[in-house]
Formats: sequence, C-alpha cells, structure tokens
Amino acid sequence: MPLVHLTDLISKPDNTYAIGAFNVSDMEMAMGAIKAAEELHAPLILQIAEGRLRYSPLDLLGPVMIAAAKKCSMPTAVHLDHGSTMETIKLALDLGFTSVMFDGSKYPLDENIARTQEVVKLARSYGADVEGEIGRVGGAEGDYKSVDVLVTSVEEAKRFAEESGIDAMAVAIGTAHGNYKEKPQLRIDRLKEIHAAVKTPLVLHGGTGLTEEDFRTCLANGIQKINIATASYDASAAKIKEVAAANPQAKYFDFSDAIVQGTYENVKKHMHIFGLEQKA
Ligand code: 13P
Repeated sequence: MPLVHLTDLISKPDNTYAIGAFNVSDMEMAMGAIKAAEELHAPLILQIAEGRLRYSPLDLLGPVMIAAAKKCSMPTAVHLDHGSTMETIKLALDLGFTSVMFDGSKYPLDENIARTQEVVKLARSYGADVEGEIGRVGGAEGDYKSVDVLVTSVEEAKRFAEESGIDAMAVAIGTAHGNYKEKPQLRIDRLKEIHAAVKTPLVLHGGTGLTEEDFRTCLANGIQKINIATASYDASAAKIKEVAAANPQAKYFDFSDAIVQGTYENVKKHMHIFGLEQKA
C-alpha cells in the first residue's frame, strides 16, 4: 500500500470516528502499530516529535517509518509531530514524510501565522500537508519545557485557520502531553464553538490518560485526529518489565518482542475507542 497523506485520512468529516496518530521511537513500536492497524483494518498515522529526536535521530528513524508505512497493508501516513525548526521540517520532507506539524503556539498570533505560512509554502513544494497549533496544549512533548494550557480562542482559531493555509489545526481544550497529575477539565463547550466557526479538521493532542467517554465526546464534536504518545511508551516499558520479572534469563530479543507487543496492545485499544475498525 503506498504512503497516504494526512488529508486523505482526515478530510472526510464523520463524527463517528477519528484517526489515531501514534508516536513511535523505533522499528519495534512502528511494527506494533502496524500490527494493530492490519488486525483492525484501520487507517494509521505514524509520527515522531522533534523533541524525541535525541533518542531516535530523524535521518535514521525516518526511513524506517516510511518503509514500515509502505509495508503496511492499510493506508498509513507518516507525520512529523511538533516540528519547531525549519531544518527538521525540511529533513522530514526530504525523507518523504507526507505531512509535518509546525508548532508555533509559543509565538504571538501574527508570528505564528507568518511562520506557519512559510512551512505551508515549503511543504506544498513537496506535495505534503501541514498541521498547525493555536492556543497552547499543556505539558511537554519529549525534551521540551512543560507549559501551561492556554485554551484556544474562537477568534484566534478562525484567523489562524483562514490565514495560515494549514490542513489540520491542533487546538487546546484543556489537554496536556504526558500523564495527568489530576483529571483534565476538558472545554467541550469551546471545542463546539471552534468546530462551528472553522472548517479545518481539528486535532487533539495529549491523548494519554483521557477516558473513553472523553475521546468519544471529542470526536463527536469535531476532533478528526487524536495523538497518542506516552501511553505507547508506558505500555512498552511495562511489557519489558513484565518480561524481565517473569524470566531472569530473558534475552535481548524477548525485550524487542515486548516493545512490539506493548505498542500493539495500546494502539489497538485506542483504535477501538476511536471507532477505527474497518475504516481503512
Ligand atoms: P500524550 O503523550 O499525552 O499521549 O500526547 C501525545 C501528543 O499529543 C503528541 O503530540
């Protein structure tokens, strides 16, 4: 199956499901995600965030992600998550990623729009799609500094969507990256208002730790892409510990299998919640 684009997967608004975008950091995690997609006959987005490249350099992992997506028998897009520098964004595009996120949420609105426009211009020359962010999702993705949530305003979302030229828009409605220390207060009221005001497909970051009901409410109210990272890392780490505890003689390859299995179980669980079975 050829690589597909982000827009191929999220441009058909349907409030009964959302596409899962799963962060991976090695070949085993990509294999686990693909196994889940094939078993459920579900479309897939494989992604890696710029803040995690210290562990998984993009020039090494990127080609693995592309090869994994091409090998997957379900439609699969390969996406750069939270791109912050033009250098990394250009490298992802050169490697054949079908979409990139530029996270300009730390900049004032005008600057976020201007910088995102530059990324859109570059991505278009590769035929790739772009995700932007407006407002600020809380927590930290990878090596970045943790930030507080800044809930997206409807007016800013409207201007950002109209002027930046993006294909998908990450909005801040109370979620944060990483594990929640206390129950997040989701602003579904704000999500509804943004969805009514803006046509651009909406993206939910900080998926780890939300309840099934939270996910279903979000996808019923306009979220078309949901990002899951920490839950896959935690599931894989837990599986490694389980294997080590059960068998002190466990070998390297038993741990490789544990990563595949941990990611597979977590991706499958979320694909089921997101309503993705048989949606490929
Ligand atoms: P979590 O780590 O909370 O699942 O967030 C993932 C994410 O939003 C990646 O951009």
